[in-house]
Amino acid sequence: MKKANTLFVAGLLLGAPLGAQQVDFQPRMGEPVRGLSAAQLLAFSDGQTEFDHILTNGEGLGPIFNDSSCGQCHSGPAIGGASTTFVVRFGKAAAGGMPFDPLEDLGGSLRQEKTIDPACQETVPVEATVTANRTTPHTFGAGLLEAIVDQDIVDNASTPGVSGIVRMVQPIEGGPMRPGRFGWKGGVATVFTFSADASLNELGLTSPSFPTENAPNGDASLLGPPTNCDQVADPEDPGHVRINKQTDFQKLLAPPPQTPKSGMTGEIVFNNIGCSACHVSTYTTGTVSEAVLSNVEIKPYSDFLLHDMGDTAPLGDGCGDGIVDGIATEREMHTRALWGLGQREGFLHDGRATGSTFGGNIDLAIQDHGGEAAFSRTAYNALSQPAKDQLYAFLESLGRPEFDEDNNNTVDVFDWFFLEADFNGPDPVDTHSPDDHGAIADVDQDRDFDLADMLVMQRAFTGQ
Ligand code: HEC
Ligand code: HEC
Repeated sequence: MKKANTLFVAGLLLGAPLGAQQVDFQPRMGEPVRGLSAAQLLAFSDGQTEFDHILTNGEGLGPIFNDSSCGQCHSGPAIGGASTTFVVRFGKAAAGGMPFDPLEDLGGSLRQEKTIDPACQETVPVEATVTANRTTPHTFGAGLLEAIVDQDIVDNASTPGVSGIVRMVQPIEGGPMRPGRFGWKGGVATVFTFSADASLNELGLTSPSFPTENAPNGDASLLGPPTNCDQVADPEDPGHVRINKQTDFQKLLAPPPQTPKSGMTGEIVFNNIGCSACHVSTYTTGTVSEAVLSNVEIKPYSDFLLHDMGDTAPLGDGCGDGIVDGIATEREMHTRALWGLGQREGFLHDGRATGSTFGGNIDLAIQDHGGEAAFSRTAYNALSQPAKDQLYAFLESLGRPEFDEDNNNTVDVFDWFFLEADFNGPDPVDTHSPDDHGAIADVDQDRDFDLADMLVMQRAFTGQ
């Protein structure tokens, strides 16, 4: 085995060529999809800079906002990613025959917690009887999600058994209504729409799509004289210049890797206990204007439908957030895509499933799958511990790059330290099932970590 290490290091030094075999490692989270033209690569990197740009007051930040760049919240494990940073929704719960009220006149349902001027601070109004925290999902593979054929999502709703609801929404850029695929309530269908919406509602940046500033708790008089909280002429991004750049970046972000790519026993468990009724694994994207996003097989693990998930405690044992958002009721949530899950923390919309091991947090998340999902919780609770462990191992593979033993989005000597014993050298002497440790290094999935994989590892190596 010492020999393997020497070989590995020598290969790194010499920059050994890929050789005859064709299989490549998957892009890591935060990297672009493969096969971009020079112009697209430039759009990606310009867009990444814009996504991470700290907006100044003079550029249009605020008057009320939640943070000063997209990248402040979408940060882990790379720009564009997820975090446990949350925003707050509020409203007045249905009572006495009156429906849920998002308190729009009082600045609802989204609170902006920061301001460029203390005189314009927004607070959760006393009228609000329900609040919900919503954490930050990642945007990896967002262009591919937008490219999913609308009819495929519509068809998910007519699958026998668990029946979700399609949420049709209007893209702000025009065109027909499309099934929503972004947001915890599924309220957005395109990356451009989300970017324009988030630019206004998270940063306070107005554009031709959303030209009107949010007034603190709905009090528009604070925006003009004498308080003058809004000092930059609207729209602050007149030609959608910033928003187009944010959009380019997110659209060209690669989907999260999954390692091993297939064959884990835990995925069979996942299917058998009904998780796949909502977390639908595979789609082939349609034909869109970007050829690199067209006709690509992706595995996001979502049906992109709304489901009754039950009430949150103390009302119930589920995870509905109590907020009505378009056609999504208090108890309905949009199936979260599970790709990238292995490197996320704080599961469910408010991040409540946290504080334990990865498997422990998965367990917490499943225990709050009420409503339509309760049947799969029951099936999960009846599993043996080894079967649960297989399920966790599979879910942890969603987001793992090849060779990334410690699942931290980099491939370095620590990973090699743990993988060395699995290396079989030029002549395979062993076999790995997709459940075995060495499978994370078996890029070509020929059931053994051999020289062909090692040559790929050399190129995947990112750190010391
Ligand atoms: C204050 C933190 C914060 C900032 C700043 C922020 N976001 Fe988000 N982002 C969130 C949260 C929270 C959600 C989930 C919102 C929901 O569904 O209610 C989200 C969701 C998204 C989604 C949908 C992802 C999915 O799969 O559901 C996209 C796309 C997105 N944001 C893009 C952006 C862009 C572009 C910017 C900058 C203009 C931005 N965000 C700024 C917190 C933030
Ligand atoms: C009836 C549909 C349905 C079924 C069945 C279902 N889920 Fe979910 N799942 C959802 C929805 C909807 C959400 C989003 C919940 C929220 O907004 O808090 C979710 C969220 C999750 C999350 C949190 C993801 C994140 O990024 O925070 C995990 C983990 C998860 N599901 C795993 C499972 C597993 C494992 C099973 C099988 C035991 C399962 N789900 C069965 C609909 C379902």
